Amino acid sequence: MTMNAARGSLLGIEHLSPDEIFRVLKSARRMNPLKPPPLLRGKRVFLLFYEASTRTRSSFEVAAKSMGAMTTLVLSSGSSIEKGESLLDTGYTLQAVGADMIVVRHPHAGAPALMAKYLDVPVINAGDGMHEHPTQALLDGYTILRHKKTIKGVQVAIVGDIYHSRVARSAIYLLTKLGAKVTLCGPPEFVPDLATSLAPGLRITRTVEDAIRGADVIMTLRVQKERLAGMKVSLQDYVARYQITLARLKLARKDAIVMHPGPIIRGLELTWEVADCPQSAIVEEVKNGVPVRMAVMARAIGRAG
Ligand code: NCD
Repeated sequence: MTMNAARGSLLGIEHLSPDEIFRVLKSARRMNPLKPPPLLRGKRVFLLFYEASTRTRSSFEVAAKSMGAMTTLVLSSGSSIEKGESLLDTGYTLQAVGADMIVVRHPHAGAPALMAKYLDVPVINAGDGMHEHPTQALLDGYTILRHKKTIKGVQVAIVGDIYHSRVARSAIYLLTKLGAKVTLCGPPEFVPDLATSLAPGLRITRTVEDAIRGADVIMTLRVQKERLAGMKVSLQDYVARYQITLARLKLARKDAIVMHPGPIIRGLELTWEVADCPQSAIVEEVKNGVPVRMAVMARAIGRAG
């Protein structure tokens, strides 16, 4: 089980039921970041980041602090992790200094699950390798709901480096569980045929025009250069065939939204114009990360708002 009900850990979307997902989304809707409920007053939240982060880290911190928590940031550089301390020993250390909750981002899949297995405090996965990024999927679901009122039947095109993307994996689980029609699009290196086995009803197309035509939501992803070792991918070819441009966006529904978890690389997976166009929900996604993470952390200590 990925969400440990007793301890409130959130390790992934794969094993959550649609009801559990909706419960978090509803709780997030009740969260007002301008009038935050003091549900974490006196709690110590540790943000343990072994990988770079801007949005995820800052929104967890803002969400925790605004609900009254004390937050402590531990980065792999500058901590005992550099000296070779193991993940679990670092976890035991944070627990010993009084952690009530640990939010962790790690380059290896399964790192948060390992911590949750051995520690007595809830663990929240802020992205583990190429595995899952559950709070990103929840904030994406929240964003789609705000625009489309429902997720059931909504046509979503996920375009880009899906293979390396924990964001895509969590989004695929969440969207298919809630009844969206999901099409995956990209070259075989980024979207292997095997990807359809992730969830029932997934469709793959190699043509971006085909993926976008009639879509309600276009979710594009960063090409994860740091995870491309050994792969023969021509970025020039990728841009020519898969970049989201204004001309391609016109194939989608008029009220379609463009999403991206960030960081965006303008001129690669999407053009400058698309990033800044009125249909872009990219900045709004970041904003929605705050109430969603408030809900996830309130849930972690059994105080869903
Ligand atoms: C993503 C991540 O780190 O998984 N960013 C995020 O959390 N919003 C996506 C990426 O790095 O491309």
